[in-house]
Amino acid sequence: MKQYLKKKFTVKALIYLGIVMGLIIISYGIYWANTQIQLKKLQQTVAEYKNQNWPYLNSTLPLEQRVQDLLSRMTQAEKIGQLALVEKNSVHNLTDVITYGLGGILSGSGAKPEPNTPEAWLSMVTAFDTASRNSRLGIPVLYGVDANHGHSNVPGATLFPHFIGLGATHDADLVFRVAQATAAETAASGIFWNFSPMLDVVQDPRWGRTYESFGSNTKSVSQLGEAYIKGLQNSSSTNITVLGTVKHYLGVGAMVWGSSTNKNFFIDQGTTTIDEMTLRTVHLPPFQAAINSGAMSVMVGLNSWQGQKMAASHYLITDVLKNELAFKGFVVSDWYGVYEIDSNKYRSTITAINAGVDMVMLPFDYKSFITDVGSAIRNDDISQTRLDDAVSRILRVKFKLGLFDHPIKQNLSQAIIGSKAHRDIAREAVRKSLVILKNNNHLLPLSKEANRIIVAGAVADNLGRQAGGWTVEWQGIDGNWIDGTTILNGIRQAVSPTTTVEYSQAGNFDHATSRADIGIAIVGEKPYAEGWGDNPHPALTDEDLTTIQNVKQASKKLVVIIVSGRPLDIKPYAHDWDAVIAAWLPGSEGNGVSDVLFGDYPFTGKLPIAWKIK
Ligand code: GLC
Repeated sequence: MKQYLKKKFTVKALIYLGIVMGLIIISYGIYWANTQIQLKKLQQTVAEYKNQNWPYLNSTLPLEQRVQDLLSRMTQAEKIGQLALVEKNSVHNLTDVITYGLGGILSGSGAKPEPNTPEAWLSMVTAFDTASRNSRLGIPVLYGVDANHGHSNVPGATLFPHFIGLGATHDADLVFRVAQATAAETAASGIFWNFSPMLDVVQDPRWGRTYESFGSNTKSVSQLGEAYIKGLQNSSSTNITVLGTVKHYLGVGAMVWGSSTNKNFFIDQGTTTIDEMTLRTVHLPPFQAAINSGAMSVMVGLNSWQGQKMAASHYLITDVLKNELAFKGFVVSDWYGVYEIDSNKYRSTITAINAGVDMVMLPFDYKSFITDVGSAIRNDDISQTRLDDAVSRILRVKFKLGLFDHPIKQNLSQAIIGSKAHRDIAREAVRKSLVILKNNNHLLPLSKEANRIIVAGAVADNLGRQAGGWTVEWQGIDGNWIDGTTILNGIRQAVSPTTTVEYSQAGNFDHATSRADIGIAIVGEKPYAEGWGDNPHPALTDEDLTTIQNVKQASKKLVVIIVSGRPLDIKPYAHDWDAVIAAWLPGSEGNGVSDVLFGDYPFTGKLPIAWKIK
């Protein structure tokens, strides 16, 4: 009986399996056929501009003449579509790029192709680009990503130190070269728009985005932001121009703790309470410097000021940014920020566009946005002048980038992605970012000839923690899953052949007979991004402190290396340590730490934000 039942069950299971497999095959077949139909439709779409000699297509004509000529040929629908920047996972039909004339597509952090390879990025972006060039007037779509510490969306890319570490270098030339290399790696994957540099002048390190900033000094943020935008946009040596977006306008670095409008956060997406004088003297200069250096796109933040959402502030966006600072590029909103202005989407939309937002980031739905803008124009809730101004600003940037004059560069070698030359720049940046917080009896730099060195800590052999957030996934991923050199391996490579390096993550070393000459504890923060990193008391974990204690007991001299996105409270413990180094979030090239730790290069880093250790 049992045998019979078992046989019957197996037959049933096989039948069910066959049905499921059949359904999968049929649904894939329908999807494939649908895609082919769409693509056929694309090819049938008559791109009227092809074989025309309309002025906007003539690259020898003056920029403004091209802008005005194209604007004069656009239908209202084609104009409205340019205002939409849509998250790629929300675009369900490639033909929508044509049907709605979408102006921009973005990959929010983590919105990657499968497989997540440079080739797949290039083909994904090229599909959107090709679709847009099959529209009636062939207005190319702009595709943007956050490449805020290299093109960190794709495994294998060079991961530079996050901006807080670059801030510690105080080296504008280095930041220029980091930006150049970042531009080369994003362009090689077909992307010519980077939502960087972040120019927020951070005031409260409890904020989860502290590490995305160059620090808390206005002058330094201005200088490094200027260098970054120049490196990204007009890097003559690499002949690559990637559009930068300076963000988050304005005063996002001065939000106050406990004011977040997001129930999961504490300060991110909160309120900026400073007065206008402080806003202008502390937070505006970096944007002025970037605009003077050619910034063509500004992103408004998710903060509020004087009771108003930033995307709704006509005073700050139009009066100050566009008129006073004479900004001629386009203003883009952040994520869902426009719809946070008012409970009514229509009112939110007209408020933001009338305030001066030109391109609206739409993470989820774009069809209702486009309908609303069309209604608003008909109702005169948005004037034709305002619409034409927004479209002209967007077109001006697309012409300046050369998007009309050449399709996405297909001939850029992808070997540049993660190249040694770029990793060398990243390693230099790591070296220059390290800051000595304590150095008793000049213990640092260490000798390479020590007899025995013990190394411990949750970050010693962990590239995911070295990299931090915004690394392939929005929140980053703990562990070793990307290319790079861990700090531990850098140490192993640096010391003399006669030196023994022992590693135990928890710091469990036998010290009954003898203690190591040097103990190195490499500790710090797990990866996080944005409000998920808001922390009322950034400090080491109990696990870290136990590890440090274990290392101290097993060694004669103790060096603590802190890998974090911001200052951590070590005041209660640092007196017990011989040396302390701030390594920030160094990225893929952890050997930059050992370069300085063992004296091949000097310590030159200076704090980009206050850090008291006693
Ligand atoms: C995020 C961030 C912004 C980023 C944008 C696109 O919410 O606030 O800095 O550029 O969305 O990912």
